[in-house]
Amino acid sequence: MLDTTTISHLIKSEDLNHHGTLFAGRMAEWLVEASFIAAARLVRRPEDVVCVQIHGMSFDRAAAKGDLIELRADVAYLGTKSITVHAAVYVNEQAEPSVSGLSTFVTVDRDGKPYAHGLALPDEYVERHRAIHDRARQVRAGG
Ligand SMILES: CC(C)(COP(=O)(O)OP(=O)(O)OC[C@H]1O[C@@H](n2cnc3c(N)ncnc32)[C@H](O)[C@@H]1OP(=O)(O)O)[C@@H](O)C(=O)NCCC(=O)NCCS
Repeated sequence: MLDTTTISHLIKSEDLNHHGTLFAGRMAEWLVEASFIAAARLVRRPEDVVCVQIHGMSFDRAAAKGDLIELRADVAYLGTKSITVHAAVYVNEQAEPSVSGLSTFVTVDRDGKPYAHGLALPDEYVERHRAIHDRARQVRAGG
């Protein structure tokens, strides 16, 4: 399935850092989890999906206890055995994301050996997701 994977969290005391704002490690965990789910929903075999790289995350605004956050993850790029997912985090329904990042997953068999997933993104999907598609291609090329 290629629809957006959406996950919500309430920020609680145990999610905070020593500044009293959301701990980056917690945010990273949630972001990779949402991205993993987007990749697993596409492959339809969650047990075959492993994360091979987190390409970086940009933390542009802080979030605080009691804030409601929504993670939205979309498949951005498909390689032969790889799936690169873009995830963005919205705090309290703000229009601009507070955090965003790309992660790459690989399809592996029971022995952990990568295999070709045989999936492709429809042209219409790529056009609708042009910005994240181009960004993913860029980072996958090492840019
Ligand atoms: C994922 C893993 C099986 C890939 O093995 P590999 O021998 O590099 O696989 P391949 O060379 O066949 O590459 C498979 C795909 O992964 C991509 N890839 C491999 N290493 C990558 C990396 N570090 N970053 C981004 N993509 C990578 C390749 O470009 C290729 O993509 P393509 O199919 O689009 O061309 C292996 O690195 C592994 O087991 N890693 C541990 C995964 C894990 O435990 N994850 C949990 C995180 S704690």
